[in-house]
Amino acid sequence: MHLSPLHCIIILLLISWPFSSVLICTSVSVLVPGMRLTPSKTLTSDQGSFALGFFCPSNSTQNMYVGIWFDDIPVHTVVWVANHDNPITDASSAMLGMANNSKLVLSESNGHHILWMANTVTGSNSSVKLLNNGNLVVLSSDGATLWQSFDNPSDTVLAGMPMRTTHDTHPPWRIVSWKGPEDPSKGRFSGGNDLNTPLQFFVWDGSVPYWRGAVWTGYISSNMGLQTVSSLMYLTVYKGTAGESYATFGLSDGSSRILYKIDYSGKTVLLRWNTSLTDWTPLTPWPVYRCNFYGYCGPYGYCDNTEAIPACKCLDGFDPSNKTEWVTGIFSQGCRWKEALECGGGDGFLTLPAMKVPDKFLRLWNKSFDDCTVECSRNCSCLAYAYANLSTNNIDGDTTRCLMWTGVLIDVEKVGGIGNENLYLRLAGLSSKGRKSIILKVIPAISASLLLVLLLACLVWFRKFKGKHGKKGSPNRLIVGDLSITDGLGEETCEVPFVSFEEIVSATNNFSVSNLLGQGGFGKVYKGLLHGDKEVAVKRLSRGSGQGAIEFRNEVVVIAKLQHRNLVRLVFYSVQGDEKLLIYEYLPNKSLDAFLFDSEKKLMLNWTTRFNIIKGVARGLV
Ligand SMILES: *[C@@H]1O[C@H](CO)[C@@H](O)[C@H](O)[C@H]1NC(C)=O
Ligand SMILES: *[C@@H]1O[C@H](CO)[C@@H](O)[C@H](O)[C@H]1NC(C)=O
Ligand SMILES: *[C@@H]1O[C@H](CO)[C@@H](O)[C@H](O)[C@H]1NC(C)=O
Ligand SMILES: *[C@@H]1O[C@H](CO)[C@@H](O)[C@H](O)[C@H]1NC(C)=O
Ligand SMILES: *[C@@H]1O[C@H](CO)[C@@H](O)[C@H](O)[C@H]1NC(C)=O
Ligand SMILES: *[C@@H]1O[C@H](CO)[C@@H](O)[C@H](O)[C@H]1NC(C)=O
Ligand SMILES: *[C@@H]1O[C@H](CO)[C@@H](O)[C@H](O)[C@H]1NC(C)=O
Ligand SMILES: *[C@@H]1O[C@H](CO)[C@@H](O)[C@H](O)[C@H]1NC(C)=O
Repeated sequence: MHLSPLHCIIILLLISWPFSSVLICTSVSVLVPGMRLTPSKTLTSDQGSFALGFFCPSNSTQNMYVGIWFDDIPVHTVVWVANHDNPITDASSAMLGMANNSKLVLSESNGHHILWMANTVTGSNSSVKLLNNGNLVVLSSDGATLWQSFDNPSDTVLAGMPMRTTHDTHPPWRIVSWKGPEDPSKGRFSGGNDLNTPLQFFVWDGSVPYWRGAVWTGYISSNMGLQTVSSLMYLTVYKGTAGESYATFGLSDGSSRILYKIDYSGKTVLLRWNTSLTDWTPLTPWPVYRCNFYGYCGPYGYCDNTEAIPACKCLDGFDPSNKTEWVTGIFSQGCRWKEALECGGGDGFLTLPAMKVPDKFLRLWNKSFDDCTVECSRNCSCLAYAYANLSTNNIDGDTTRCLMWTGVLIDVEKVGGIGNENLYLRLAGLSSKGRKSIILKVIPAISASLLLVLLLACLVWFRKFKGKHGKKGSPNRLIVGDLSITDGLGEETCEVPFVSFEEIVSATNNFSVSNLLGQGGFGKVYKGLLHGDKEVAVKRLSRGSGQGAIEFRNEVVVIAKLQHRNLVRLVFYSVQGDEKLLIYEYLPNKSLDAFLFDSEKKLMLNWTTRFNIIKGVARGLV
């Protein structure tokens, strides 16, 4: 891109000598039928930022191209090329002009050899202008845009250029690399959005994925390198008139001296003009390390960029598939589970923060984070999920972005920084071990009201609880009923069994006053004897909470995953019409407040005990 135009100038001067009365190049601001651009002329934008004309790559004295470059900076920077694969070989006869009053055509041999043509419908009296943002436009006589270079990009994206992110009604939008640093012919690499989703950017080597950007989280994708110019740069996503989605970036001061390009080696870089250096400053070129390349670390492996030298690792809970190969730096076989998934009470989710999440996801529409958690938890083929809130930057009317993976997890990276996100990974043996990370995951998923329910549940006499449940075996989970609603947790309800309302009625003696244990803001709590032998505490939630049965059940599933020895365990739930019931283990020693505020019983709590209680509560909360 940094062309030294020396050779070219000499050629241009030699060429223009016989035809022009002056030796310096002339420029025009509009091209209309009858006018032609020859190697001695340029078309400049009205404020002089860009020029369209003929150029030779610096080391080439043979081939000449027509392109657009920045015209108000001293570094010759080509941003668009017309005739990538058809260089001009006879400069003396080359010209760019309007053929048949309408088509912009580059030709040599007095128009007999056409090298490039703007693909416009035939009109009449059209004109050609170069706008001050670097967009070359062919306008009809009534001013409509018939063709523009922004729709036909080369290797460079300029500020304000619409990058189409969907491909429903057009061929895929792509930028295409040059073949070499001084060779504008089309190279192997191309960049553009995934054909299946506008949520991620790819660079392909031919048709093979070469590297992949992070999935859109509503923030500027960090490994596109865009965030580093922070407030000075904006990125907008919008829907065009044909329903296609676009993204565009720019500088808030309106300057055009920023560009994003793919170079001949398949790397992309955001370049910003630095006035004091009088040169382009590259901002986080990408990819940098081998393990940044697509799938380099194999299935279930990831590239850890937080290491001084980024390296392949196995996701937590995984080991290298072939240790011999792994230690010698062959990662293609990836990793495999240490412990097979069992789909049931034993599985849990591990939170992996600051990740570039894997490729090949399914997007579930209109799912909140809680819904997303539930969808993945209840479907045993869901290996991982991720959620982002796109409320500030959503492309398609859905502000949620719930992703689910059911196949191998490929092309994962740990990156850090804005735009990266949590990956929730299903692993065996997590929920029974009560690992910290599960709790971390579930906490944000609990709605405020249910969190309060849990806080209340904490205020039980958990020292006894601890003694009773410290070693938790596989609980006896009976499914003794089903919902009348047929949307179907069905037998997928591996987490919390359902009991029918009738059984609860009978267990609590029709919610008799003699069974009442207490009353809170959420409703009354009754003691019950379920199935004749199981003591339970039944929390009957107040009616009219406005919460639907499905949401309630989803939240139950989430709560049920919160298993900690210091949290009272939810063992069943029940929904019928307006009735929503949570059924907990019965704790015969009642609630902590029964001790704290009883003048006699509180004497049983010495300071050591109290301190232990406080620590226990804190652990449960964490
Ligand atoms: C251009 O030519 C110079 C001198 O011949 C050489 O040093 C340089 O590597 C060449 N550049 C490219 C990109 O070929
Ligand atoms: C111009 O029109 C002539 C006659 O209709 C046609 O043969 C020629 O291909 C046209 N040229 C271009 C560049 O479309
Ligand atoms: C073509 O356009 C030019 C400039 O827009 C105008 O001056 C000229 O009259 C037009 N000619 C025809 C035939 O429409
Ligand atoms: C330009 O470059 C200089 C020297 O490297 C640096 O100090 C300055 O921050 C840069 N300016 C911008 C706007 O990047
Ligand atoms: C691991 O890879 C090595 C070298 O490719 C191979 O010889 C060996 O059989 C592999 N081991 C397993 C268990 O696949
Ligand atoms: C998601 O919800 C929005 C707003 O309620 C709606 O317009 C859109 O059609 C929904 N999308 C899908 C795929 O259900
Ligand atoms: C689990 O998810 C996969 C992928 O969306 C789907 O095909 C399958 O039907 C789901 N299974 C259940 C039981 O919902
Ligand atoms: C998404 O973010 C917006 C603004 O930050 C917030 O109002 C909204 O509640 C969030 N939605 C979800 C589902 O997290």
